[in-house]
Amino acid sequence: MEKQVFEKYDGSRVTEGMLQEASQFFGDHYGVWGEHAAQAVGKFAKAGSHVRLSKARLRAEYLPVDTTCSYVRVTVDGRLAGNAFACRWACENKTVCWITQLVVHQDYRERGLAVGLLNQLRHDNVDIYGLMSSHPAACLAAAKAFGSSINTVRLEFIKEHAEEIMRASPIRYVKDAKVCGSLFNPEDTSGLVSSVDTGFWVNHTEPLEALAWAKDIVDWPLGELHDGHEFLLVLEVRRRTRSTSRSTSRPEALS
Ligand SMILES: CC(C)(COP(=O)(O)OP(=O)(O)OC[C@H]1O[C@@H](n2cnc3c(N)ncnc32)[C@H](O)[C@@H]1OP(=O)(O)O)[C@@H](O)C(=O)NCCC(=O)NCCS
Repeated sequence: MEKQVFEKYDGSRVTEGMLQEASQFFGDHYGVWGEHAAQAVGKFAKAGSHVRLSKARLRAEYLPVDTTCSYVRVTVDGRLAGNAFACRWACENKTVCWITQLVVHQDYRERGLAVGLLNQLRHDNVDIYGLMSSHPAACLAAAKAFGSSINTVRLEFIKEHAEEIMRASPIRYVKDAKVCGSLFNPEDTSGLVSSVDTGFWVNHTEPLEALAWAKDIVDWPLGELHDGHEFLLVLEVRRRTRSTSRSTSRPEALS
């Protein structure tokens, strides 16, 4: 039987070695540039070549100083099989946790590792979880880990609060992303519903296949996926009120 090990680190404890490994892993497994990427972002983004992220950029953009960030990784039989970065910040007296990166090794996909990584990032004090991703499976995984299912996502909450939450982010690409789709602009007839224009021209072949499959099995709420865009998912934690007898007999864990 294979051995899965999940490890979680505070951003301040992430070593150069861990970042080097994460950078290599991203380059190997994230995806490739799309057809129009070179035109849009520069010659380095040659169609079909792997999207890369240096160790220095990971440190500067995913673990910026004076922020509360986390890194989670999972190994399977000692081999890195997936990882995720997240950042927390405050917005209007609420704590937001945003998944800034999520990648699973191509050989280990569709066996629940993304959900497992996101489960590690759940925190009792978090009120809102967020994610921008071109991959429907990342949205399905987040909905499962932080809510219950993609069909219970409250689009009204995204419409009312997403922009404010994102503007408060210490992560530059989240702060700068432009929301778009019919959720934010009723005159938008492009098919986008809850999207962001991030100018990230990654190849969408695999995400579009996943989208077609997702639409067959669930009532997909986030609309279409266009080049240079990603889905936007923001989930509010809905807490059950515990009965007095339970809360007095079982103290809350400190975290
Ligand atoms: C997106 C990604 C992280 C998903 O990882 P994963 O470990 O395969 O996901 P899981 O096995 O936890 O599956 C999560 C959900 O997505 C579904 N799913 C996974 N891959 C899918 C696919 N290719 N097509 C359709 N659905 C898929 C699963 O069935 C599951 O849904 P369910 O819980 O309702 O059954 C992985 O595909 C990946 O690394 N892609 C490239 C990088 C990327 O796009 N990352 C997202 C950027 S934030």
